[in-house]
Amino acid sequence: MFSPSGATAIVLAAGSGQRLGGWVPKQFLELAGKPLFCHCLDVFESSPAIGSVVLVAPSVPFDWQGRRYSKVRAVVVGGQTRSQSVELGLAALPEGTEVVLVHDAARPLVNVDLIESLIQALAPPFDGAVPGVPLEDAIKKVGADGEIQAGLSRDRVWRVQTPQAFFRQPLEISLRKARRLCPDPPDCSQMLTEAGYRVRMVAGDRLNLKVTRPADLRLAELFLQERARRAGGEGL
Ligand code: CTP
Ligand code: MG
Repeated sequence: MFSPSGATAIVLAAGSGQRLGGWVPKQFLELAGKPLFCHCLDVFESSPAIGSVVLVAPSVPFDWQGRRYSKVRAVVVGGQTRSQSVELGLAALPEGTEVVLVHDAARPLVNVDLIESLIQALAPPFDGAVPGVPLEDAIKKVGADGEIQAGLSRDRVWRVQTPQAFFRQPLEISLRKARRLCPDPPDCSQMLTEAGYRVRMVAGDRLNLKVTRPADLRLAELFLQERARRAGGEGL
């Protein structure tokens, strides 16, 4: 079922990082000794399950700092929204790709074990497998004035991460449908489930955070330093 050359990872690095702020989009900030987006590229480079990488970047030139990635087959310019960037990445997939992992470059703590468990979980009757973690905090609906309006059940509610693994065809079909139904979904799995495909949740990694706001940068740095300190360099 899988292409012998492995899955292709689409790395999304074309956002502008509004919530983090600053002049430089967050994926190009220095983090634990290298640009943030290079952390996930290094992990995909060392993952046996990944055969190739398509990097979706902004139109401005960016600094590779001399890094070489043998698996990066294409660098394409992204779109206005995340899903447009996914679509542009899909258009550049190497021939023969059957399994696609879509990953946010803003998640530098992805690791080889997580990639492996997603690829293992991607099998019929499922069209996709995504990592997530169950919610632990109490969840409230809050009015514009700050008053709590209702307590929401967190029973069976999960937070979703990337990378998200899909068979290529359902992902392509869902993207086309999403243009009409849901132009800017928060993640790819939502496009698939809304198009009627089946997506499975697998245990993610609590440390696989997305750098979104300034405090996340500091946390990611601490986690990366701790990972580097531990023998083997994988996970905490
Ligand atoms: N992304 C992208 N193309 C876009 C928007 C987002 O490739 N048009 C990428 C980002 O670079 C990031 C990932 O999608 O790696 C997740 O998006 P998010 O965390 O929302 O990043 P930004 O959109 O850059 O940040 P913000 O929403 O705060 O502006
Ligand atoms: Mg965004």
